[in-house]
Amino acid sequence: MDVEGLRALKEYLEYLIESDVDAIPLPQPSARTVPPAEACSIEGESGESEELEAIRDDLGDCSRCPLSRARKKIVFGQGNPSADILFVGEAPGGEEDRTGLPFVGRAGQLLNQIIENGMGLSRAEVYICNVLKCRPPSNRTPQEVEVLACLAFLKRQIAAIRPRVIVSLGLPAARALLEVDKPMHQLRGTWHAYEGIPVMPTFHPAYVLRNYTVPIRRQVWEDVKEVIRLLQEG
Ligand code: URA
Repeated sequence: MDVEGLRALKEYLEYLIESDVDAIPLPQPSARTVPPAEACSIEGESGESEELEAIRDDLGDCSRCPLSRARKKIVFGQGNPSADILFVGEAPGGEEDRTGLPFVGRAGQLLNQIIENGMGLSRAEVYICNVLKCRPPSNRTPQEVEVLACLAFLKRQIAAIRPRVIVSLGLPAARALLEVDKPMHQLRGTWHAYEGIPVMPTFHPAYVLRNYTVPIRRQVWEDVKEVIRLLQEG
């Protein structure tokens, strides 16, 4: 863990002590990497998927990590609760923090284009959420302790939606789901799996906007085509 990570961990532990929290949220069991052919959907212990509303209720007015202090709104997620495709981003930005909706700023406009023009779907047909439900200050990269505090909710969202495919947007989302330490260029373009669900990591739309080059856009398009191909295979 680097110095920034240690500082965040110290702040987090102080925060837990201040908040009289008597248990530290622990990571969920490791994700398993399997090729899509072996992929299967996941179910809760009861055999039924958990409802998103119940998960949102459990999240409540969350204060499990210090990000709750500065957030305006929790950004839980939006879209079709039985979507085939789940997009997982990193964390809300300014516009998302104001509105409570994921990917509604500039990066969201590009994501809309990918969904609508690239996949021929509407935003309402897919589900969109983030690893973190609260905005990090100045949109900085999520810290491990923040991911640790929030990840259980994403995992429950995935179990409830049971998408056929997950598209992770950017490195923090890929790392949170896949528990891998590889760089983006090694992750994107190839299938991974989270709990048997195929995961296609691709570049974050904000990164694409900052690096609006033909090679980057071509790679995103290749990733999108691979997702469409897998869904069409049935
Ligand atoms: N970036 C993200 O990762 N998520 C959002 O919701 C918006 C921007």
